[in-house]
Amino acid sequence: MAGSALAPRVLVVQGSRFGQSEKIAKAVCEVLQSRGMLTDLVALDRSTRPDPLVHTAFALVTSVRYGHFDKNAKRLLKRHRTWVDGVPTLLMTVSLTARTPEKRDPAVHVYTRKFLEQTAWQPTMVEVVAGALEYPRYNWFDRMMIRFIMRITGGETNPTANIEYTDWTQVTTAATTFTHHLRV
Ligand SMILES: Cc1cc2nc3c(=O)[nH]c(=O)nc-3n(C[C@H](O)[C@H](O)[C@H](O)COP(=O)(O)O)c2cc1C
Repeated sequence: MAGSALAPRVLVVQGSRFGQSEKIAKAVCEVLQSRGMLTDLVALDRSTRPDPLVHTAFALVTSVRYGHFDKNAKRLLKRHRTWVDGVPTLLMTVSLTARTPEKRDPAVHVYTRKFLEQTAWQPTMVEVVAGALEYPRYNWFDRMMIRFIMRITGGETNPTANIEYTDWTQVTTAATTFTHHLRV
């Protein structure tokens, strides 16, 4: 289907395991739509691809798991690099390390910095966003590992804790700023 000649049509890709990145990506879409833009929200998998005939911008919202993003993010960037480099782009990374504001600087947030170094991608905007801690949903091993990581980083270790650290004002502000990079 051909995109409108006027409204930008943004491909918003979410790489999510427990749903927080998806929730954040939906919030981004709502902001874009409220500014008159079209959005296509899709889950990241090995075949995720833009349609260069309709998509005029790209946003990637993806979470960290044991120090890494979904490998399909790198695959998408590698396969569709020419297109990605030719449109306005937003990278939003989601992690628990970002629960402290000083870690939300992309130059400081080690996973984001490494991802950008490894891919040599220079998104128009990079936003480091805090995710959610949901111990009751994790399996035994993951709960044990996350509790260990939280203990050594001074975080919550109560195995019944469900905490959403996401700063929704940060998310909507970033999405609003991104709209300024898109032609209407
Ligand atoms: C198994 C597992 C491993 C994780 N590893 C990391 C990590 O290495 N660093 C980090 O900052 N957060 C880590 N997290 C936190 C997630 O990034 C956070 O919970 C995020 O909200 C998950 O988003 P999603 O539901 O979209 O996957 C991990 C979470 C889980 C469940």
